[in-house]
Amino acid sequence: MEQLQQILDQALQQFAAIGDETELEQVKAKYLGKEGSLTALLKGLGKLSAEERPAAGARINQVKQSIEAALQQRRDALQQNKLAQKLAAEALDVTLPGRGLGTGGLHPVTRTLERIEQLFHSLGFATAFGPEIESDFYNFTALNIPENHPARAMHDTFYIDPQHVLRTHTSPVQVRYMEAHQPPLKIISPGRVYRFDSDATHSPMFHQVEGLWVDEEISFANLKGVVQDFLQRFFERDDLRVRFRPSFFPFTEPSAEMDMSWKDGWLEIGGCGMVHPNVLKHVNIDSEKYLGFAFGLGVERLAMLRYGVNDLRLFYESDLRFLKQFN
Ligand code: PHE
Repeated sequence: MEQLQQILDQALQQFAAIGDETELEQVKAKYLGKEGSLTALLKGLGKLSAEERPAAGARINQVKQSIEAALQQRRDALQQNKLAQKLAAEALDVTLPGRGLGTGGLHPVTRTLERIEQLFHSLGFATAFGPEIESDFYNFTALNIPENHPARAMHDTFYIDPQHVLRTHTSPVQVRYMEAHQPPLKIISPGRVYRFDSDATHSPMFHQVEGLWVDEEISFANLKGVVQDFLQRFFERDDLRVRFRPSFFPFTEPSAEMDMSWKDGWLEIGGCGMVHPNVLKHVNIDSEKYLGFAFGLGVERLAMLRYGVNDLRLFYESDLRFLKQFN
């Protein structure tokens, strides 16, 4: 039975030295397997006398249980190790400072558009949108600019195909909106427009805000009042004045250029007028009953004045040194 103690000591020693689970299972066979030393002893019990047998059997079983327990302990320990290693390898150091992702910010033109929308909403205007790729019909014809009319030359148009253009102004939204809605209607329509033109004050893509108010008793005075009210709030200046200069647009009659007072002079900020009866006719609105005004404001121009930017191209160069100043 000394042999038993030896087997147990050896097993415990060996198990403790093993650092690998597969190897552990192989060594286990040496003791508990079919050909294992403990198994051999158990088999040998038969040769013992009936008196000796129970005590010897009990001892062998005890050792067997000890070996099994040690084995299980070692298995658990190895697994714990493995887990600990894995955790260490995939460790996430939550004490590391973050990478400092910037919060970003809105583009000055977007800010300006939001401000414009907010102010017009407070004056009771809803917002409408139209497509940037526009048909020749909506961009020109329905706005009382017939084919081959010299007024088409006022716009340096990008043609997609003979029937489609990148809209040269937001005015086609007037037509689209009036086709779908009956007066009274009161909308603005902000968005991108395109013209073949580029210098410090012109970009081939820029933004306009169209305004349209159609109802039974809408006058030129309302137009001027709305524009002046808007501009005074936009620039936060009660003394800001608006001046109309006679002009021509095929889709308004009478038409005017809108100027606002700025420093010692006047700055042009858009065009406007009373909606032309031909435009109303196109959309089946009775021009005897309804009147309306429309205007188109240049958004970049307003942004440049509000922020003191002197070159429009800065808005579209994506230079963070410039853009960061607005956030
Ligand atoms: N659509 C005109 C332009 O882009 C501006 C305008 C809008 C004029 C509405 C009158 C009425 O020049």
